[in-house]
Amino acid sequence: MINAKKIREDFPILKRKVYGKPLVYLDNAATTQKPVQVIQAMNDYYENYNSNVHRAVHRLSQEATTAYDEAHEKVAKFIAAAGMEEVIFTKNTTESLNLAANSLSQQLKKGDEIVLTQMEHHSNIVPWQQAAKRTGAKLRFLEIDGNGELNLQQLQQTIGKKTKIVAFTHVSNVLGTVNNAKEIIAAAKEARAVTVLDAAQSVPHMPVDVKKLDCDFMAFSGHKMLGPTGIGVLYGKQELLEKMEPFLYGGDMISEVSFQDAKWNELPWKFEAGTPNVSGAVGLAAAVDYLEGIGMENIHEHEKTLTRMAMEKLRQIDELTIYGPEAARRGGLVSFNINGIHPHDVSALLDAEGIAVRGGHHCAMPLAKLLGITGTARASFYLYNTPEEIEKLAGALETAAVKMKKMTAATTTPTKAARTA
Ligand SMILES: Cc1ncc(COP(=O)(O)O)c(C=O)c1O
Repeated sequence: MINAKKIREDFPILKRKVYGKPLVYLDNAATTQKPVQVIQAMNDYYENYNSNVHRAVHRLSQEATTAYDEAHEKVAKFIAAAGMEEVIFTKNTTESLNLAANSLSQQLKKGDEIVLTQMEHHSNIVPWQQAAKRTGAKLRFLEIDGNGELNLQQLQQTIGKKTKIVAFTHVSNVLGTVNNAKEIIAAAKEARAVTVLDAAQSVPHMPVDVKKLDCDFMAFSGHKMLGPTGIGVLYGKQELLEKMEPFLYGGDMISEVSFQDAKWNELPWKFEAGTPNVSGAVGLAAAVDYLEGIGMENIHEHEKTLTRMAMEKLRQIDELTIYGPEAARRGGLVSFNINGIHPHDVSALLDAEGIAVRGGHHCAMPLAKLLGITGTARASFYLYNTPEEIEKLAGALETAAVKMKKMTAATTTPTKAARTA
């Protein structure tokens, strides 16, 4: 059990009001708020040891380099990677997936297949589309069923001899579905395909162990796990990273350069060209410390409780449709629509009550199209959210639905004057 009320004291932004009302922040799938521990760690870097890394011998650079390298070690331990060689710092999940798609596609040829799913975020579709266009490879998609879950009966038909890459999301940012990553990865291994896991919505919320999953690559973002924006991670198995070509070229990623040629640096630096985001790494390391202090299993349980509660309450609202599987089979988010109200308007109505949710297609346009909708409103939870906030969300949605029903009735039921005319 975690004490969300106590945790909230660490988050300065959660004390603020919006339109005179206490902020209810339920847009955690987009980005999360930062505890003082993260903010202070980054301030400390800028105030006391700001310097470039891996370059100079002066004291500040030594301290910055130690902090930067230790951040890699910390993240490696957090996801159970073998060591810092397997942890590449990028800008975000999107850049991590682009790096993987770019470098892995160098081994693709015409007729090869890349398997994705119908519930991917644009950042795990578009880079593969481009890779397919460059190489002549074909994209195939694991389909979703009526519950918003992947139809794993199709695994054998979809993943086969031609499959070279299987890239899929661990947790859907729209439906909340937690995919059976182990089963999909096992099927990919049988076909000798490389696996890429988009863990943007899982690593921040539940224990994720890359060795147990046996995935080849995994991408996630610091800003979705209490860390700062501008820092993300690509995990990769060392033997595969060794064989892969770099994505960006320049300073720090080389071991030797002549006028005509260059040799690459050792891992992970081979994939980190140029001056890196040192303050971001320091902030991410502090975020990992914070999450580990609370415990990932506890965070997962807390979110499951909030999600169950939200779904029970929202189900009681007439005119409200929830998308995705039952609470037990999803992460900490609920997407929904109220009949007759555009998701942006639902978000605006909630915003007026100080409640922040996101409305739209959530960067998953193909999925929205498949579901026959323009988008959804999405409430997404984290360790600092409370049952009282879920009550507020349900109350505000109930009011919005009732208002909408009245407005629809007023416009569709003829007035007395109209009836008697
Ligand atoms: C499942 C999933 N993948 C990828 C991303 C992209 O993350 P970022 O914008 O941090 O690159 C997101 C962001 O919402 C996401 O939810």
